Amino acid sequence: MKEQAKKRIEELTQIIEKANHEYYVLDNPSITDQEFDKYLRELEQLEQEYPDLASPSSPTKRVGGEVIDKFQKMKHQIPMLSLPDVFNIDEIIAFDERIRKSGFNPEYVCELKIDGLSGSFHYEKGQLITGATRGDGITGEDITHNVKTIHSLPLHLKEPIDIEVRGEIYMGRETLARLNEKRAKENLPLLQNCRNAAAGSIRQLDSKIAATRKLDTWIYHLPNPSDYGIKTHFEALTFMKKLGFKVNPANRLVKNIDGILEFINEYQEKRPYLPYDIDGVVIKVNDLEMQASLGFTSKYPKWAVAYKFPAEEVLTKLTDIIFTVGRTGRITPNAVLEPVIVMGSTIKRATLHNEDYVMEKDLKIGDIVSIRKAGDVIPEVVEPKKERRTGNEKDFQMITNCPICDSILERKKDQVDHYCMNPNCPARNIEGLIHFCHRKAMDIEGLGERIVEDFFNMGFINNIPDIYHLETHKKELQELEGYGKKSIENLLDAIERSKQNSLERLLFGLGIEGIGDKTALVLAKKYKTIDHLAMQSEQDLKKMKDIGSILAKNIHDFFEKEENIQLINALKELGLNMKYTGIEEKENELITGRRFVVTGTISFMSREEIETLISNYGGNASSSVSNKTDVVIVGEKPGSKLDKARELNIEIWNEEKWKKVYDSLEK
Ligand code: IVH
Repeated sequence: MKEQAKKRIEELTQIIEKANHEYYVLDNPSITDQEFDKYLRELEQLEQEYPDLASPSSPTKRVGGEVIDKFQKMKHQIPMLSLPDVFNIDEIIAFDERIRKSGFNPEYVCELKIDGLSGSFHYEKGQLITGATRGDGITGEDITHNVKTIHSLPLHLKEPIDIEVRGEIYMGRETLARLNEKRAKENLPLLQNCRNAAAGSIRQLDSKIAATRKLDTWIYHLPNPSDYGIKTHFEALTFMKKLGFKVNPANRLVKNIDGILEFINEYQEKRPYLPYDIDGVVIKVNDLEMQASLGFTSKYPKWAVAYKFPAEEVLTKLTDIIFTVGRTGRITPNAVLEPVIVMGSTIKRATLHNEDYVMEKDLKIGDIVSIRKAGDVIPEVVEPKKERRTGNEKDFQMITNCPICDSILERKKDQVDHYCMNPNCPARNIEGLIHFCHRKAMDIEGLGERIVEDFFNMGFINNIPDIYHLETHKKELQELEGYGKKSIENLLDAIERSKQNSLERLLFGLGIEGIGDKTALVLAKKYKTIDHLAMQSEQDLKKMKDIGSILAKNIHDFFEKEENIQLINALKELGLNMKYTGIEEKENELITGRRFVVTGTISFMSREEIETLISNYGGNASSSVSNKTDVVIVGEKPGSKLDKARELNIEIWNEEKWKKVYDSLEK
């Protein structure tokens, strides 16, 4: 019986892996979804009956299930290097000339530079054994449990060989769009781009979550080609494809610089229409002996470069400038654009920040403007095309009255923003309520932007205490079109739960001007109760390292206003917790009392996780570098904050240093 089961398990594994390969790698299925499910169920059943026959790389593992409590380190047998960036054609020509000067006449392989994160995958006797992140290049993290859920990565190869391959783990654009739609409904912050989404997904402890993220792979590097008698990189790509890996069909062998330029131009045009994000083109010397004799610098191979595309700019018409009112009453001008596709997404609006910004750019309504979108998602109006003006454009006029309540706007001395000062302005109130419920504030799941607006317009909530009175309208709410019994029950439960939140959430939720979630936490930790905080003089507040004179005044003014005291008393009566109940601070000489900025991607932790840890150790994490910053933690692709840190001579910690500090912390 068992012998028979063993045989059938092998058969089913083969059928399922073949079907999986056809579907996810070749995009050419030969069996139906129903047949696939039938085989998978049969395999699951047999594995349940004979657990000792279930292989750790069985296709049933694709749905996830394994949960780990922390990521184990994994040393790379050969370091995982990254590539030097080049930004223009001259630099590519210089790269080619350098190689020619060494006496070579090279052919190149051009590949797309996939915007994800690199991974290393080990197979023994053709079976997937481990997967690891790049980490600092020397040591990565074991992500085997999540890697097994990636359908395009074979669990079994076509040959029973031992091999390591490397490539990019990424999330497709469509997958990210679906995921963000879902997150928007759940009031969760949206993921900024495909790369962050992939990095966050692969760092899940629970592989079931990783499995739902539908990650994908492109394999592009074979670290030990000579073990398989391979002489060129292009051969290595073909070899890996034959073994069952997903190798990008765009990869192209070219003879010279002209071939490289043709490839770059072609994919610059195709880029917006690709189903995944790329941020450039990788150019590699094809001949492996040539690669070996060119060698490496301490950081990079000398036989490859990554050409980075410039941020994409497109032209469209600025049809109007409209104004929105934020919760603090701040007025923002917004560009209304003729819809245009930039980097695969349709852009209709872009923030113009404030009056000065519009004036400096000299924008007129009716202008043809250029829109730029870099790797991340926020589009930017670059400039008007003045040479295309017809004379029919309209000058920009800053408004003088609130677009919602018509009260006169104020522009405070030395500030760029205009404010609606009417505390009862409906726009301010709605924004204030949305802010109160936000994930980083009271975190009331189910009270997202749209629902707050609906309830406000229907008169159920006019102010914050009304949220806690919604219970009394339960029946009415359950009868509303589109809501339903269960969702209202869940919502009321979430509201009830929020009463227990620690003080910092309430402080942030109250929307005191200039108090972000991090400052709220610092205040909550220091003063422990809202009454204690309310008692502080401006002078006392100013003594805190993180509170400047403007913030001290804002906090003090807030607690001076009778209406705010009344609000707090009303919330106390409704049973809201007014104490800090978070974790007590730990100490570390490298972190406690110091100000940090985190920039770029650290491979083994998200920025949020790093910032929380810093804050738990009594440090402060902020988002912009200034001369008050003590340390800048720099990951991959850091951007301008690193330049600023260098300019100001601020201590810089790279990933390796952060890892050392992180490992030394008691967690
Ligand atoms: S080759 C030694 N090829 O870009 C060769 N890298 O800055 C190492 N990447 O860390 C990498 N697409 O995450 C290579 N076709 C491609 C790539 C690629 C994306 C990423 C990879 C690497 C970074 C290099």
